[in-house]
Amino acid sequence: MARLLDEGSALDAAVAILSSGGLVAIPTETVYGLAADAANGAAVARIFEAKGRPRFNPLIAHVADREMADSLASFDALSSRLADTFWPGPLTLVLPRRRNAPVHPLVSAELDTLALRIPRGFGGELIARLGRAIAAPSANSSGRVSTTTARAVQRDLGNKVDLIVDGGPTSVGVESTIVKIAGGRLHLLRPGGIAAAELEAVAGVPVERGGSGGVDAPGQLASHYAPNAAVRLDVAEVRPGEALLAFGPLRARGADAAAALRNLSPSGDLREAAANLFTLLHELDGSNAPVIAVEPIPAHGLGEAINDRLRRAAAPRHIPVVNERA
Ligand code: TXA
Ligand code: MG
Repeated sequence: MARLLDEGSALDAAVAILSSGGLVAIPTETVYGLAADAANGAAVARIFEAKGRPRFNPLIAHVADREMADSLASFDALSSRLADTFWPGPLTLVLPRRRNAPVHPLVSAELDTLALRIPRGFGGELIARLGRAIAAPSANSSGRVSTTTARAVQRDLGNKVDLIVDGGPTSVGVESTIVKIAGGRLHLLRPGGIAAAELEAVAGVPVERGGSGGVDAPGQLASHYAPNAAVRLDVAEVRPGEALLAFGPLRARGADAAAALRNLSPSGDLREAAANLFTLLHELDGSNAPVIAVEPIPAHGLGEAINDRLRRAAAPRHIPVVNERA
C-alpha cells in the first residue's frame, strides 16, 4: 500500500518522489490527479501503466504559473484572456506546443498540441517547488470513476503509486473544462468545472460543441467513469433492488424501497451536486446494488458536466468490469 501523508506535511516527500521518477497522487480542486515529472519519459510511462490507459490518450501538463505555461506552448489572444481569468482553476487549454518544450512527447501522445492548466492549492505549490511541469491524469483506473478523496485513490490505485497526498474531499468534484481555440472559435472539448456560460461571458464568442475540423479530445470515449453497477438515467420510478442517486427535493416513485439512496444536492444546487458526484457514485457502488438509478439533472451550468459524466457511466462498457468487492 502507498504511503499516505496529509497535504500539510507532504511537500518535501512529494518533490523527492517526483524528482526520482515516482508517482504521487495529489489533490486538486477538481479531482485527485496521478502525478509524474512531465519531462521524465519513464515516469510518464508509469502513469499509463498504473491506470491501464491507452497511449493514444494524452495527459494534461500542470504548471505553476503563466511563465511556465508560456515556456511550453504559445497562446493566442483569446486563450490568454481565458487563462488570465480562470487560472488557477478548473480550465484546461489545448495550445500549440513549443518545439523543445521540456515535456516528454508521451505526455501529449505525440500530438503537436499540449493541454495545460494551473491547479489550485497543493498541486500548484508542488509544481512551483519542483520547478517543472507535472503530467497528471485523474487518479483512477482507466475507464473507472474518478476519485475525489484520498481513500478512493487508495482503493483504486493504492498498490501502484508511491505516495498519496490527502487534501480532503475536492471542492469542485468534476474534472476541468477543456477548450481549444481554433481560428478564433471556442471549441468545448470536455464540459467540466467551469460552465460554458461562464466561458462565453469572458470570451464574447459562443462555445461550440461537437468536435469539428479535427478538434477533439482523444480520451473522450463513450464508456468512462464506470462503476461496477450498471447505471440507468433520468428515472421517474425506481425498480426493485436498484440504488438511487437523487437530485433536489422531489423523489422518484419507489424511492422508499431503494436498496440505497444518496442525494447529490437536496436543495437542487448544481455546484453542490458536482462536488458530490463521484463520491456518491463510489458509495452507491459499495452498496452492491446491481443498478444505480439516477434522477433527472438539469442541463444548465455545471449540469452539463454532470450529465456528460453520467451518460458515459451509463454507456455500454468497452472494458471488462472487475468485481472489486471480492
Ligand atoms: O481536472 C482535471 O482536468 C484532472 C485533474 C487531475 O487536473 N485531470 C484530468 O485528466 O481529468 P484526464 O487525463 O483524466 O483527462 C484529460 C483529458 C483527456 O480526455 C485527454 O484526451 C484530453 O484531456 N487531452 C489531453 N491532451 C490533449 C490534447 N493535446 N488535445 C486534446 N485533448 C487532450
Ligand atoms: Mg480521467
